[in-house]
Amino acid sequence: MTRGPHRGTGSRDASAQRAENASAPRIPDLRQRIVTLFQPYRGRLAVTITLVLITAALTVVPPLLTQRAFDDGLFPRSGHPDLPRLAAIVGGIVLVWAVSQGLGVWQTYLTATVGNGVTADLRTRLFSRLQQMELGFFTRTRTGVIQSRLANDVGGVSNVLSNTVSSVVGNTVTVIAAFVAMTLLSWQLTLIAVVLIPLLVVVQRRVGQRRARIATATQESLSELTAITQEALSVSGILLAKAFSRQASETARYASESERQLRLQVREQMTGQGFFAVVQVFFLVVPALVYLVSGVLLTNGAVITAGTIVAFTTVQSRLTFPLLGLLRVALDLQTSSALFARIFEYLDLVPAIADAEGALDVPRDDRLGRVELVHVGFEYPPSRAGEQPVRILDDVSFTVEPGRFIALVGPSGAGKTTIGYLVPRLYDATAGEVRFAGVDVKRLRQESLLEHIGVVSQETYLFHATIRDNLRYAKADASDDEIRAAARAANIHETIARFPDGYDTVVGERGYRLSGGEKQRIAIARVLLKDPAVVLLDEATSALDSVSERIVQEALDAAASGRTTIAIAHRLSTIVHADEILVVDAGRVVERGTHAQLLALGGLYAALAAEQSAELDEPQPA
Ligand SMILES: Nc1ncnc2c1ncn2[C@@H]1O[C@H](COP(=O)(O)OP(=O)(O)O)[C@@H](O)[C@H]1O
Ligand SMILES: [Mg+2]
Repeated sequence: MTRGPHRGTGSRDASAQRAENASAPRIPDLRQRIVTLFQPYRGRLAVTITLVLITAALTVVPPLLTQRAFDDGLFPRSGHPDLPRLAAIVGGIVLVWAVSQGLGVWQTYLTATVGNGVTADLRTRLFSRLQQMELGFFTRTRTGVIQSRLANDVGGVSNVLSNTVSSVVGNTVTVIAAFVAMTLLSWQLTLIAVVLIPLLVVVQRRVGQRRARIATATQESLSELTAITQEALSVSGILLAKAFSRQASETARYASESERQLRLQVREQMTGQGFFAVVQVFFLVVPALVYLVSGVLLTNGAVITAGTIVAFTTVQSRLTFPLLGLLRVALDLQTSSALFARIFEYLDLVPAIADAEGALDVPRDDRLGRVELVHVGFEYPPSRAGEQPVRILDDVSFTVEPGRFIALVGPSGAGKTTIGYLVPRLYDATAGEVRFAGVDVKRLRQESLLEHIGVVSQETYLFHATIRDNLRYAKADASDDEIRAAARAANIHETIARFPDGYDTVVGERGYRLSGGEKQRIAIARVLLKDPAVVLLDEATSALDSVSERIVQEALDAAASGRTTIAIAHRLSTIVHADEILVVDAGRVVERGTHAQLLALGGLYAALAAEQSAELDEPQPA
């Protein structure tokens, strides 16, 4: 029911996503938690409230001074205008307004810093929480959906955070003052003005709940829009769309979600407008009702002067705006609670892989560089609740001594990459134990563990930054000489030097300005700069042509020398010299030994080798 009437307009996985979080997540103590966000700003808030109160009090003064100006300055009893007195009073009026406006600027500054401060805190906390999440979270969740929570949900509450406090305080003061004045003037007439207020509060709450539900749907649609943008307008997305001439359908997909967004926005804005119209009508007709009731009271012998009636209706009409203001703020707060719930839902995410209590640093002794897998099993969590987990690895055991070279080979989908990911704890083994430098990786501090592992995978990620900055990512304080040395060892220095901007060349989004082989060599140079005890090479040359492969292979040999190396290889030629080769098939190690031993065994490895040499012998098509 929270999904709105437009289900089914999005793509299939979009509606699946929506079904998953069809309503705003229930966060207990939501209000309490929102209040807690303001904790660091208590001082500023106190000053803000004081300023609002002072400004409110000051607005009372000018009318009083105006009265003095008339009665004592312009038309005193003496009959002659009292100029000095008038000047003093006018001066007073100028001063009061100037001070009040000055305080207003100060107050705006405070509300801006508090509101935006809370927003910035939320954003940073969210980002930092997401940084701690395990890899699996990101393989499960669409990037755009994550980005949308940071951008659209946090952005959406920003306005509420900035304006609520001053609006609530300011309007409350005015409303209370007006009520006091009205009660003093005539409590009977005041009753007319307040009799409907409880009803207003009840209706307002209902309207607010409806708005919150629509807001949830709006934010989901916005996150879908972001996801489409992020997927379609990236280099890979554009390449894909162009390759299959799908631009028109991509646009249609976007347009349909945009349409949905539009309808939701309009619905969200229109929810409550009727309510507010009724409230306004009520406030506008109260004076008329007052005349009527006064007439009745007068007929029954009560004493009500014309002055009282005029004064009462004047004060009452002043009440309208602030009261409506309060109702609107309350509504905004309820609407934003949907957004807060989405933000807190992410803040409450618990990383599946985190440092254990009292986690250790990797011991820097002669065990450093040893990697052991002991009866390791692994299953991916099911993608949907209720499904069976997917078993990927079964009883995998091996040991690599420091400085040795082990290779993992086997058919695609056998589980090689998964084995590799278990070592830096990108995933946690679900059975058995992975040991690094003799210690169970679950007992090591992740940061310390990752410091000692370098990874070169098939796809290298480069930032949209200069080559120098991309290399420095591995070692923030690397000198230019170190960077050049690493690039030389990785066979990439000459290439970089040939670019007009050398190391200051900007590589473009994800490094699309570099060829595959160049990117791989930059990735290797990164690993060399990091200088880890263990390197993990996951099909680092598989995507390359044979010329690039040879150059990259030389760089890889440089990276591997003197380090423990776990190489996952597609082409057996790159690992024939490995100290041990493990043949992985369907999540199990089915054969192990040296190249020669495995060939002699005549099993899967021998078959793979025969297949590949046959390919090599075949004449290449021109
Ligand atoms: N994030 C994931 N969620 C579920 N299954 C996955 C995930 N990643 C990989 N798999 C599955 O795990 C199996 C092993 O994958 P992988 O380790 O990448 O194999 P390899 O590197 O040997 O080609 C494959 O069947 C693959 O479909
Ligand atoms: Mg793989």
